[in-house]
Amino acid sequence: MGAVNKTILVLSGGKEAIEGIRIAKGMDLKVIVCDGDRNAPGRALADEFLHANIYDPGAVESALAKYRGKRKINGVITIASDAVRAVAAAAEYLGLPGISKETAFLATEKLEMKKRFKAASVPGPHFAEIGSKKKLRRQICIFGQAVLKPVDSRGARGVLRVDENTDIDWAFDYSMNFSQSGKLILEEWFPGPQISTESLVVDGKSYLCGVADRNYSRLDETFPHVVEDGGETPSRYSPAIDRKLTKLLDRAAQSLDIRNGVIKGDIVLRDGEPNIIEVAARLSGGFFSTFTIPLVYKINIVEQAILLALGEKIMPPLILKAHCHQANRFLFVGPGTVKKVAFPSQDSLPRFVKYFEVNVSEGDVISRLENHTMRRGSVLVIGKSREQSVERAERMVRSIKVEINCKSGGRSECR
Ligand SMILES: Nc1ncnc2c1ncn2[C@@H]1O[C@H](COP(=O)(O)OP(=O)(O)OP(=O)(O)O)[C@@H](O)[C@H]1O
Ligand SMILES: [Mg+2]
Repeated sequence: MGAVNKTILVLSGGKEAIEGIRIAKGMDLKVIVCDGDRNAPGRALADEFLHANIYDPGAVESALAKYRGKRKINGVITIASDAVRAVAAAAEYLGLPGISKETAFLATEKLEMKKRFKAASVPGPHFAEIGSKKKLRRQICIFGQAVLKPVDSRGARGVLRVDENTDIDWAFDYSMNFSQSGKLILEEWFPGPQISTESLVVDGKSYLCGVADRNYSRLDETFPHVVEDGGETPSRYSPAIDRKLTKLLDRAAQSLDIRNGVIKGDIVLRDGEPNIIEVAARLSGGFFSTFTIPLVYKINIVEQAILLALGEKIMPPLILKAHCHQANRFLFVGPGTVKKVAFPSQDSLPRFVKYFEVNVSEGDVISRLENHTMRRGSVLVIGKSREQSVERAERMVRSIKVEINCKSGGRSECR
């Protein structure tokens, strides 16, 4: 494959990146992991480690300046993080293939991204920049059901559903709290089915590698926050919708000038037509690129993305064929103080379980679930049908028993 003896720089050594680092090692590459956490679990798998905050492009460049002269780096990628700006900065600094800094900015700044989409007639919700509480009040009257978000956050932090009954002062301040640049965007709320896609982009053309249905069945429970509870792959709308998705993602990639790499889409269907909420110029987290796509479609998308990052030629998939079904669900706990936790041990799990993690301990004080970072566990399974995989995922989540002393003073068995 032409990548042997080369070195890849991977931004993120977090637990969701581990499988990606393993894939890189399996390609006979030398792997340098960069992470802001010296104890990042991916460090143990790497040949070398650079310590830098991967959300600070300048810090990554400084770490590379200190590293210069050691091993030659042939490519840079991020796995399961949104460190796209640092990837572009590192690629430019080292003279490597990759998206430009401008594309990285557009792909991580929701307002500027939407302006590009609008200029290129890429369909999506109407939007407005929100600079004041007065503007927010006025714009909600125009949109009705809407969603307020920081332009530069991730993991649904600061994302709020709002309408004419919302406490505007609170919503503005809450969302602003998650914006580093101090900017907010308001969008019309599109109520249709939500889909996630992931594609490789080769010479400006996108090739679908995965289409998933996102499960938002807990939207009412988490309102006004927007918290996804996993999903199912393949999507119930795929393959019928695949051509439309590809066309849309081609246009989105073109409008942001993503020529080679990955495009990950957050999509809503309206009257059967796909509309873009946003895209990311990187591999997904949540084990979609590392576990789900290889399991369901037998596509090693991480390997392909690494090859692209090294400037190698790849053969992207031309049609998407699902070989099994996947479902994943998250553990929602609390609020309250954790009294007792019990769950099956890793070695007792059925073989259909491909990932099982519980991240809650006795004594933890848990606040109300407001974004994706506050989910307390994760289950990923496969099955022969969608129904079977959903039943298995829900059963595995139910096998995690968390007893809570609720803040109200009462006691409840949450799971
Ligand atoms: N206008 C909208 N209409 C319908 N759903 C939306 C809209 N905007 C956002 N959402 C839903 O809320 C989720 C979170 O919003 P968004 O992607 O903008 O925030 P984020 O911080 O980037 O979150 P994530 O990291 O999950 O992508 C989206 O993935 C989508 O499911
Ligand atoms: Mg998003």
